[in-house]
Amino acid sequence: MDNIRRPENMERITTPALAKAFIDEQLAAIKAQVGDGKVLLALSGGVDSSVCAALISKAIGKNLICVHVNHGLLRKGEPEQVIEVFRNQFDVNLIYVDAVDRFLDKLAGVSDPEKKRHIIGEEFIDVFAEEARKLEGVAFLGQGTIWPDILESEAGIKAHHNAGGLPEDLKFELVEPVRILFKDEVRMVGKALGLPDGMVYRQPFPGPGLGVRCVGAITRDRLESLREADAIVREEIGKLPQVPWQYFCAIPDFQSTGIKDGKRYMGWAVVIRAINTVDAVTATVPEIPFSVLCTIRDRIIATVPGVNRVLWDISEKPVSTIEWE
Ligand code: XMP
Repeated sequence: MDNIRRPENMERITTPALAKAFIDEQLAAIKAQVGDGKVLLALSGGVDSSVCAALISKAIGKNLICVHVNHGLLRKGEPEQVIEVFRNQFDVNLIYVDAVDRFLDKLAGVSDPEKKRHIIGEEFIDVFAEEARKLEGVAFLGQGTIWPDILESEAGIKAHHNAGGLPEDLKFELVEPVRILFKDEVRMVGKALGLPDGMVYRQPFPGPGLGVRCVGAITRDRLESLREADAIVREEIGKLPQVPWQYFCAIPDFQSTGIKDGKRYMGWAVVIRAINTVDAVTATVPEIPFSVLCTIRDRIIATVPGVNRVLWDISEKPVSTIEWE
């Protein structure tokens, strides 16, 4: 499987008919590779892992076992959507792991962004490995590797370590049904498989999730406020006719003065971030109508606990990165 490459002359999958042909091909390929074997897959709810899960489940049904780890840093409604779509609509064998306390306890008091990323990555592997060890007779690991992952890792830009990090005792043969596809093609295939638009056209979301947007040492109350504010930002900016490439918010680890019931109180600031980019290497800031910003402000101030200020980040990359950490 490791040596499967995108054919030089492969036609770009741009129509439902081409997507259907690709799906039929992959279903046969998965069946041929896996036979009666069992496949384990870490299902984050992102586009790649979701399309991969939908394809493999279509090919082998209950012999696919998906593990969804809720690390507490997902966006509002995401774990619920994964369960609804895969368990209820696709009838997938889904193990839901509530690891929220585990992750947040490990992250308590840690303010260095790279340390936070490291803890989240390591803990994820530990949780997934624990689940894998509980299962018997699993020989395959499904992965939503896509073609740019392969190209970037070959070019030395990014270590592609979807499979990386699993302990030595967990050796699996990889099943990577969307390996030769570009992102737009993965979306096309996802749509043809019947995945909901909210999943297929999801904006990019970092692996460490809200963990890098709850700036500094994560606290549960600030994280909850971030999750609520993020849902509002996504809902309101998502209504624009031209939706930016990525749009979200961050809550930095500082407070400023506010007034409530005639008294002074200290609150957090929500920072709205919306950017356009082609490759995330550079990014520009699109205009957001002032009325939309005001609606976001009003909703956040009225409903999100602990927040008394709303800011709009107009910084471009470079010099600012897209994420705050
Ligand atoms: P930056 O902040 O580096 O972000 O300008 C560029 C793009 O990468 C995403 N990002 C991450 N994705 N793990 C990920 O999977 C990470 O640790 C991470 N940090 C940033 C970011 O959302 C943006 O799309």
